[in-house]
Amino acid sequence: MTDSITQAAELLRSGGVVAFPTETVYGLGADAADPQAVARIFAIKGRPADHPLIVHLADPVQMYQWAREIPVAAFTLAEWFWPGPLTLILSRQQGVSDLVTGGQDTIGLRIPAHPVALAMLRSFGGGVAAPSANRFGRISPTTAAHVLQELGDKVDLILEGGDCRVGLESTILDLTGEHPAILRPGGITAEQLSEALGETVGLFAATDKQIRVPGMLKSHYAPNSPLQLVSLTELPDVISIHLKTGSSVAVMTCFASHNFDLPGCRVIRMPTDPTDYGRTLYSTLRMLDESGPELILAEAPPDSPPWLAVNDRLQRAACTAH
Ligand code: TXA
Ligand code: MG
Repeated sequence: MTDSITQAAELLRSGGVVAFPTETVYGLGADAADPQAVARIFAIKGRPADHPLIVHLADPVQMYQWAREIPVAAFTLAEWFWPGPLTLILSRQQGVSDLVTGGQDTIGLRIPAHPVALAMLRSFGGGVAAPSANRFGRISPTTAAHVLQELGDKVDLILEGGDCRVGLESTILDLTGEHPAILRPGGITAEQLSEALGETVGLFAATDKQIRVPGMLKSHYAPNSPLQLVSLTELPDVISIHLKTGSSVAVMTCFASHNFDLPGCRVIRMPTDPTDYGRTLYSTLRMLDESGPELILAEAPPDSPPWLAVNDRLQRAACTAH
């Protein structure tokens, strides 16, 4: 085992906060059974205390420590998709800290598919509560360098694990209702979940639960520059309107045939495959924040199921008032 993994596990045992890579985004982890350590996560992120955290595990058998009345579906899904980008919402076990669950009677659990995360979790042995390792309301980090930019020396250790393979946060599936419901679209699609469970799994639509999932707050994935979603057909006109006012514009496009080679206009070619697009979205937004265009115009991707998670994050980034 490498020194940094041993060091991370020791830090977690002594109430430390460790940033670590997962296949989705980097997480900011603390011992989920240590309320003081968990409280540090909230302080470092500037995150409101009623927002629940996902507990990361190394093995499905650990579900019993954190959840009760676990439905068969949870074990089926664990077998199909864990380790992987799927978080299951279950009824919480007695004694789980309110800080972790945001005071709710439920808990989010996931086994991440990243060798560094798994090595850390195995070495530590317990559950690690971890939100994404960004300041509250900011873009999730997909490299260790992003974590350093976001949180700097406020964390005890940042584990290096390269670029995140998925690049968008995990799919969150609520298994506490009558039917399984997706609270946040992500790396595992509704189709994959439906296939595993033998029943149609849909997106949760009501508003009362949205507040419980900060990933569903409209302003959650916020770049610094305002982002506007524009259809492919309207893109040339919208670009020229903004350039006429003297604004500097960055354009994220997948399918445009024009090259928009105009002064004040920077064009970023985004992947035409939704998985590839998801992998690069956050790092692209972060890169654009550094160059500071007055406006980001993103071509709206297709409105089809494979693009659900990408569209969800783009729409939230676009909703932010500046
Ligand atoms: O991919 C991911 O899920 C990453 C990596 C680090 O695992 N984590 C992540 O954590 O995105 P965070 O805190 O940024 O987002 C977790 C989401 C929040 O929207 C939170 O409200 C929701 O999970 N959540 C956690 N526990 C919940 C619960 N008991 N009920 C409903 N939603 C819950
Ligand atoms: Mg987050």
